[in-house]
Amino acid sequence: MKILGIETSCDETAASVVEDGVKILSNVVVSQIDIFAEYGGVIPEVAARSHLEAMMPVINKALLDASCDWDDIDAIAVTHAPGLLGSLLIGTLTARTLAILHDKPLYAVHHLKSHVYANWLPETSLARSSSDTLKGARPSLRSSENLTRLVPQFPLLALVISGGHTQILHMPGHNQFEIIGTTHDDAVGECFDKVAKILGLPYPGGPAIAKAAEGGNANRYKLPHPKVTGLDFSFSGLKTAVLRAVQKEVGVPISYPSHKLKELLSEQQICDFAASFQKTAVEILVEKLEAALKEFPDTKSVVVAGGVSANKALREALPEAYFPAPDLSGDNGAMVAAASYYEIQSGVKPTDPYKLNIYPRISVEN
Ligand SMILES: Nc1ncnc2c1ncn2[C@@H]1O[C@H](COP(=O)(O)OP(=O)(O)OP(=O)(O)O)[C@@H](O)[C@H]1O
Ligand SMILES: [Mg+2]
Repeated sequence: MKILGIETSCDETAASVVEDGVKILSNVVVSQIDIFAEYGGVIPEVAARSHLEAMMPVINKALLDASCDWDDIDAIAVTHAPGLLGSLLIGTLTARTLAILHDKPLYAVHHLKSHVYANWLPETSLARSSSDTLKGARPSLRSSENLTRLVPQFPLLALVISGGHTQILHMPGHNQFEIIGTTHDDAVGECFDKVAKILGLPYPGGPAIAKAAEGGNANRYKLPHPKVTGLDFSFSGLKTAVLRAVQKEVGVPISYPSHKLKELLSEQQICDFAASFQKTAVEILVEKLEAALKEFPDTKSVVVAGGVSANKALREALPEAYFPAPDLSGDNGAMVAAASYYEIQSGVKPTDPYKLNIYPRISVEN
């Protein structure tokens, strides 16, 4: 079964053809990172407009790379929740129109489920390119003999760590999700992005912090672990702790504008702060995951999902866990197609293309 997966929930316009949930025939991702690096964050209206421009070229390229025409496609899957309203609208309206036009069943997929199901996809390397060009978008071809990766076993725990979410999910089986821990405030990816801003590192902050941390001393600055009971998280305090530690380090009062702090930091101090912050963030995630494993002793696998799962220090701290291929950690269409495949296997029925709605804030449990 060949599914065309479409993803536009934030600032990546992506489409992919995946066969039987695991065989990636194509995977095209056009990122708007170049546009938003200038602003230091995503501007929803600009993101929606960029999706509109890139959407059809990305889909056509995904079909071309997979050597498919519409007759070869069995179903269309699209992210309908959660995410930016305008961005979700472009992806879903495109998918609805194509489903009607080509008479294909349409499946609506929750974005966090897609991130989790990236762990069922084989290692791959996909190309990212800026939104003004599709030149860099290459296909990622996988042959079935390469699919040697062992799949996660149920019941499992999924640590979902992205730009908008930080949750621990309990999954007794395919397509069954129970939230057992969630953040009270910022997501961990958001925290990486905000700390990067304080340190004068570029957007998105996660990769920039990871890179700076390579040259830093992770033990130089002691940062606190938030006191949150149970399996929940809090990351806004950690961001403020970094801010206060930087202000103290450079000897300015707490009223000093945070955007000017970077001018007072040496390169070594930036690297040391990046390393100390990354170490603390990883420790917090690992601690909560260990607590969750104690509460769910029959867990057979742990999977990590979402953009922050690309983090190398976290991968090293959790050697037993499943991680997506680093290039499949961020938003992409292959994970949407994979999630949809397993939903279909679980008996989920297609949605009405004339009625499909978007849900910018709905939980993965719905
Ligand atoms: N190597 C890395 N280390 C840490 N964080 C990273 C790394 N690479 C990316 N990130 C972070 O991942 C986040 C983006 O992940 P993702 O694309 O999954 O988020 P999103 O789709 O915007 O949000 P959500 O999935 O919650 O809707 C950003 O906050 C980015 O800084
Ligand atoms: Mg995402």
